[in-house]
Amino acid sequence: MVGVTQDYFPFGFGKHRCPGRFPAANELKTMLAYILVSHDVKFEGRVSRPTSIHWDLNVIADPTVRVMFRKRTCN
Ligand code: HEM
Repeated sequence: MVGVTQDYFPFGFGKHRCPGRFPAANELKTMLAYILVSHDVKFEGRVSRPTSIHWDLNVIADPTVRVMFRKRTCN
């Protein structure tokens, strides 16, 4: 995730590559882990993953698909 190559550059590339990418990646992973352990997550009205949209060099999530979150309760 923090790699900087010519095939993967969300954090830039070369001399000015992002120095904040390490804490940024850790923070994102921590937030995702928290959501996954504390919530049930599903796509509304679907059983499988929606097809990603490819636009130029980008791969983006389908903005028309809704994601539903339900906080888990402790039993
Ligand atoms: C998801 C979060 C972040 C993304 C997507 C991101 C992305 C980028 C990108 C694309 C660049 C330009 C690199 C280039 O010119 O080649 C950059 C530069 C930079 N980023 Fe980030 N960044 C993030 C978080 C952070 C954080 C948390 C910090 C500091 C705590 C930070 C500090 C910097 C600095 C100082 C530069 C300029 C580096 C230079 O010019 O040498 N970034 N970032």
